[in-house]
Amino acid sequence: MTKWGIIGCGRIAHRFMQGLGSLPDTRLVSAWSRTPSTVNAFVEQYGGIACADVDELLASDIDAVYIATLPDSHAAYSLAAFKAGKHVLCEKPVTINLPELEIVLAEAKRSNLLFMEGMKPAFYPLYTRLKEHLSHDPIGPAGYVRAGSSVADVAADHPNFSYELAGGGLMQIGIYEAFLAIDWLGNLEDVQAMGRFGQTGVDMFTIFQTKHAGGFSQLYAGFDLHGKGDALIAGPLGHITIHKNWWNPARATIDYLDGRSVELHEPFAAGGLNYEIAHFCELLKAGEIESPIISHQMSRQMIDLIDRARAEIGLKFPAEK
Ligand SMILES: NC(=O)c1ccc[n+]([C@@H]2O[C@H](COP(=O)([O-])OP(=O)(O)OC[C@H]3O[C@@H](n4cnc5c(N)ncnc54)[C@H](OP(=O)(O)O)[C@@H]3O)[C@@H](O)[C@H]2O)c1
Repeated sequence: MTKWGIIGCGRIAHRFMQGLGSLPDTRLVSAWSRTPSTVNAFVEQYGGIACADVDELLASDIDAVYIATLPDSHAAYSLAAFKAGKHVLCEKPVTINLPELEIVLAEAKRSNLLFMEGMKPAFYPLYTRLKEHLSHDPIGPAGYVRAGSSVADVAADHPNFSYELAGGGLMQIGIYEAFLAIDWLGNLEDVQAMGRFGQTGVDMFTIFQTKHAGGFSQLYAGFDLHGKGDALIAGPLGHITIHKNWWNPARATIDYLDGRSVELHEPFAAGGLNYEIAHFCELLKAGEIESPIISHQMSRQMIDLIDRARAEIGLKFPAEK
């Protein structure tokens, strides 16, 4: 039985509970959020102890903490969790920038505790099946990725638009595109970006292209255009389309150079976070401190890519000035 505590009881924490509820041998023990009414309503819905502060949560009978606050506080809560001897699953983007992540990773290693960023698409059944299919029916080494997402119906007061909370298109959405490019093309070598800013001082729409050991990507992320996208991954023997919305993947088409077309359908269940939670629990049971799928190096590369794209468009957060 993996016993969880949750820090931050907002939108994604509810989806986490949908996933957790679908899994055996794991349960919520305690929760804490800054606003008492938020945590009280949360435990009323899902059970568990409503903690008065983060220290009470970290002292409760839990194995792991799911950090579901906004990026400005991910590092501080991760470090507090390690100090209390708890393993950490932390929402994306894992920290504000790479230097902050390096501090977190050093402490995770020193504490010998499991730390993983919640990069959900990597664990979806479609994504896993796609990789498995390609292992016996390959398109050759991927050399190009084209993907993006722009979500135009987010409420104006959403923290995604907050400069102080490290919001913006690159941080909130671009991190998924970063994952896809690195996962298929390998180590990051270069980033170019152009972006436009909104009234709150974060990027509302950014296009960015990257160079990797294995090839090139062209990516976009934003909040002021309706552009929920698919993803294209091209190799010498064929190309893959992961149909929209590619970051919640359920369907893919592989078009081969020899004329064949292969369709993959793998609907996801329970909101989709269940797959990363199950992976994390398996790692815990095996005594691992790092995921082979969302490794520490993968998290480093993802936030490094976003750091470099932010530098290109001139977006620095308050702590970076
Ligand atoms: N994996 C995914 O599919 C996915 C999807 C959406 C978002 N996310 C990520 O999940 C994270 C949270 O996003 P969200 O949409 O759930 O945001 P949200 O709805 O605003 O929820 C955040 C929650 O954390 C609490 N909180 C914020 N700052 C805090 C702090 N310093 N200390 C304690 N509690 C704090 C909030 O405050 P109160 O207690 O005051 O209410 C709220 O309950 C972000 O990093 C986002 O990128 C992931």
